[in-house]
Amino acid sequence: MRNYSLLTLCLLCGGISLFAQNSKIQSSVKNVETKVDSVLAMMTLEEKVGQLVQYNGSWDLTGPASELDGKQKESNLKKGLVGSMLNVLSVDATREAQKMIMENSRMKIPLIFGYDVIHGYKTIFPVPLGETASWDLEAMEKTARISAIESVANGINWTFSPMIDISRDARWGRIMESSGEDTYLTGQVAIAKVKGYQGDDLADQLTIAATAKHFAGYGLAEAGRDYNTVNIGENVLHNVVLPPFKDAADAGVATFMNSFNEIDGIPSTGNKTLQRDILKGAWNWDGFMVSDWGSIPEMINHGVAKDKKQAAEIAINAGSDMDMEGGAYETSLVALVNEGKVDIANINDAVKRVLRVKFMMGLFEDPYRYSDPKVAKNISYKEHEAVARDAAKKSIVLLKNESSLLPIKSSVRSIAVIGPLADDKDSPIGNWRAQGEANSAVSVLEGIKSAAGKNVKINYAQGTTLGVGERSFLMPLEINKTDRSGFSKAIEMAKKSEMVVMVLGEDAFQSGEGRSQASIKLAGLQQELLEAVFKVNKNIALVLLNGRPLEITWSAENIPSIVEAWFLGTESGNAIADVLFGTYNPSGKLPVSFPRSVGQEPLYYNQKNTGRPSNAEHVTYSHYTDVAKDALYPFGFGLSYTTFKYGDIAISSEAMNAEETLTVTIPVTNIGKVAGKEVVQLYLHDLVGTTTRPVKELKGFEMISLQPGETKNVSFTITEKMLQYYTANKKWESEVGDFDVMIGGNSKDLKKITFSLN
Ligand code: BGC
Repeated sequence: MRNYSLLTLCLLCGGISLFAQNSKIQSSVKNVETKVDSVLAMMTLEEKVGQLVQYNGSWDLTGPASELDGKQKESNLKKGLVGSMLNVLSVDATREAQKMIMENSRMKIPLIFGYDVIHGYKTIFPVPLGETASWDLEAMEKTARISAIESVANGINWTFSPMIDISRDARWGRIMESSGEDTYLTGQVAIAKVKGYQGDDLADQLTIAATAKHFAGYGLAEAGRDYNTVNIGENVLHNVVLPPFKDAADAGVATFMNSFNEIDGIPSTGNKTLQRDILKGAWNWDGFMVSDWGSIPEMINHGVAKDKKQAAEIAINAGSDMDMEGGAYETSLVALVNEGKVDIANINDAVKRVLRVKFMMGLFEDPYRYSDPKVAKNISYKEHEAVARDAAKKSIVLLKNESSLLPIKSSVRSIAVIGPLADDKDSPIGNWRAQGEANSAVSVLEGIKSAAGKNVKINYAQGTTLGVGERSFLMPLEINKTDRSGFSKAIEMAKKSEMVVMVLGEDAFQSGEGRSQASIKLAGLQQELLEAVFKVNKNIALVLLNGRPLEITWSAENIPSIVEAWFLGTESGNAIADVLFGTYNPSGKLPVSFPRSVGQEPLYYNQKNTGRPSNAEHVTYSHYTDVAKDALYPFGFGLSYTTFKYGDIAISSEAMNAEETLTVTIPVTNIGKVAGKEVVQLYLHDLVGTTTRPVKELKGFEMISLQPGETKNVSFTITEKMLQYYTANKKWESEVGDFDVMIGGNSKDLKKITFSLN
């Protein structure tokens, strides 16, 4: 007799041939549930716990296990005591690991392979904060699609992305991984990314499972210090932090990741209200929750668990389904169940969630589906580069353009290109670069040279270095604070050129995890270099490469043109040149406020009014005495090479009830000389609520293209749902009263009209 696995035999007895299901049947929810239940019924407690364990693939899987840790892990894999792995990075390696399970374990439950594919796998797209600045959801879906394909080509079928933590603090290094400060915009990006990664069918070989992370509140760490305490109340939690996660859950995201932080005294990993009551209860979401790296045992440091065992008990009971490299579940869960401290129902629920995702991914049908060498052979990296250039140019935000220095005129014959980042081919790749190769980006200098052509003299000088020594994911960069030896050449180049493109900002690894900074000024000697160059040539276009808002108040006051170019990825320099030379008319808008001073942080446009918003007579109101309280460049802001004029808002009625809708319409005219794209933004303000309400909140946007002289009427429909919020009654509802509708090209310069909800 053939040697069928217990699992196959039993399923065949039940009339269900798992391995013969087609993908349509796979995704039929009822079928999946039946299969999940049949598998669960056959598992021992040890095997169940195994599904909740995730290992880092830190050893060479294609050879014999090389280290002690590797040998133990390999032996557990063979026993089927592991549910997933992360950082196993090739078709061969994932195939090998899968084989260990499929050829040795009793239940033969396939592994899934996770990795941080945050802004591309090999082809690198703009960092998420930058890409969000494009406000182009279709483009964002496309880059996620490509990331998925390149991941599968390397054996990966699960990304720990999108990161949708609302981030209001430029000091927090991980703001670069986020979509910035706005809840609605972040939610829209979450939906686009989930669609892009997961497609319509998770079982499709070219899709991967996505992760909504970090649940929840991680982006609001006190003082912008990574991993720090988060102190928010229910009002901010429900109205600001949770909605993008609800959007991701509704979009069918396969997994969630919880977070390192505590909220109001409870670490997220051990937070039952968040994980069980809200996500799995009220939202009825049926995927699984992976812990963040070691966040289960970190509850010992938080001081809510005395040891790993207690941490495991708290986490599983709170609804953390899988332990990422924490070693808590594999060492304690069996005992905890036997001692009656963890109800087997909680284990069963967690295992069912993991199995469900594996079934949906088609892994029971073909465990090697995502370890197929053919996928890599069919990839056209050239085509992906073109998409990367498109995404990159759309992400650039023009912050200032006085005296129309940009776009660079065809009459210009000499350009000095100066700065530590000008010919840096690595920083544009950014942090969380997956398998993006070091030094593989098109530098700004290269982009300018190829766009300018032979008739323009390019005078390059580095001026100063930003860092000293090697870049590394784990160690901070040592900043150069003393070496000015390159200044004189930079000054000379600036003197003999008609204009200067100055490329300053951050090193790739200055933002990212563990990269919080108390200062967000241009690091090292960059400001000094900028001022020295400015003394000899004022025609400066400042190009900023960075992963967080920087304090650029001096530049805003002095430098005629400023281009925010983030870390734009593989095609960075070409995309920047597209904008500098006007081949592309910039259309990006800031997803985050730029402060005048770091002391304003956290800074965000949708703040509360306070009891003392202003006072013309004396100081006792909410402000700073040394700096204006508003942003230097507000959320939603971004210029174009043309000018858009907004007319007055027309409203279909001055009142509506809950069953009705309203339409607001605004004419937008391109009054400049070139065609351009504009993101028309809709904000609402609930004037009186049972709780305090933000002064305005983004509720919709539309991107339009206008030829010179052309006018378009842009309409938004206002529904009762858009007026809802988490009220004093602790539920989502609207409250009757007056609302301001505001429409414009950024969160500050807006046309306004009022209506009532009856
Ligand atoms: C990060 C997560 C990431 C995980 C796995 C953690 O340190 O917080 O965002 O997905 O590592 O690499």
